[in-house]
Amino acid sequence: MLIILLGPPGAGKGTQAERIVQEHQLAYVSTGDILRNAVKEQTNLGRKAKQYMDQGQLVPDELVVEIVKDRLTDPDCAEGALLDGFPRTVTQADFLEQALPGIGINIDRVVSIEVKEEELIERLTGRRVCSECGASFHLKFKPPKVRNVCDVCGGDLYQRDDDTFETVKERLEVYKKQTEPLIAYYEKKGILSPVDGNQDIDAVFNQINKILEKI
Ligand code: AP5
Ligand code: MG
Ligand code: ZN
Repeated sequence: MLIILLGPPGAGKGTQAERIVQEHQLAYVSTGDILRNAVKEQTNLGRKAKQYMDQGQLVPDELVVEIVKDRLTDPDCAEGALLDGFPRTVTQADFLEQALPGIGINIDRVVSIEVKEEELIERLTGRRVCSECGASFHLKFKPPKVRNVCDVCGGDLYQRDDDTFETVKERLEVYKKQTEPLIAYYEKKGILSPVDGNQDIDAVFNQINKILEKI
């Protein structure tokens, strides 16, 4: 099974992914997390990616496509995977379509989380992320039980470098230009399921579950 989570920055892809992979036993593939790890470890990829990420721009397709190609052939993906943040351009979507038959998987559903722009800005600027396990929190909407400490693993929480107001605005622009066309792309293929992401976290999860149970 392969599920794609599509949606603008701050839509709640990571938040929902955490619960979906548990409930449906899927491998979690987040290109954002993989890139942030590469930046932290100062690998070659990390050094190249950082300049784009800090400016709210997309990392070039060639680099991201290689990451995904590698990751999808890991043994844990054989049982099924959830893609968060990939594909993000039509080029990436075309690549996936060509690569999947060789890996022996196909896309079952593209879940598109839709959220109003004002809400996205508030979600991103108030987000805090665990430095150990990557879990997402929010100062107002999902505060951790203990200030600045992850509920899941006890790690320290931090604010992502690209969650400043200016970079958030840029990321939203980039989303509209480069990623939003994928909604029509997958709609045409008949595998798109839109979800109202303006609701609270549990309500969004329930809606996604109903879609996945039908697969
Ligand atoms: P990436 O890490 O993928 O970031 P993004 O797509 O901008 O999305 P976010 O992670 O910011 O948002 P999210 O939807 O996961 O929201 P979350 O659940 O955390 O990518 C980062 C960068 O890496 C890109 O800019 C690019 O440079 C590069 N990159 C990555 N993939 C790439 C690719 N394929 N190609 C090229 N470049 C790539 O929620 C946000 C906040 O809201 C949290 O605080 C959360 O607690 C809260 N929240 C969530 N749901 C709700 C709700 N229902 N109600 C209230 N609050 C909520
Ligand atoms: Mg995310
Ligand atoms: Zn944690």
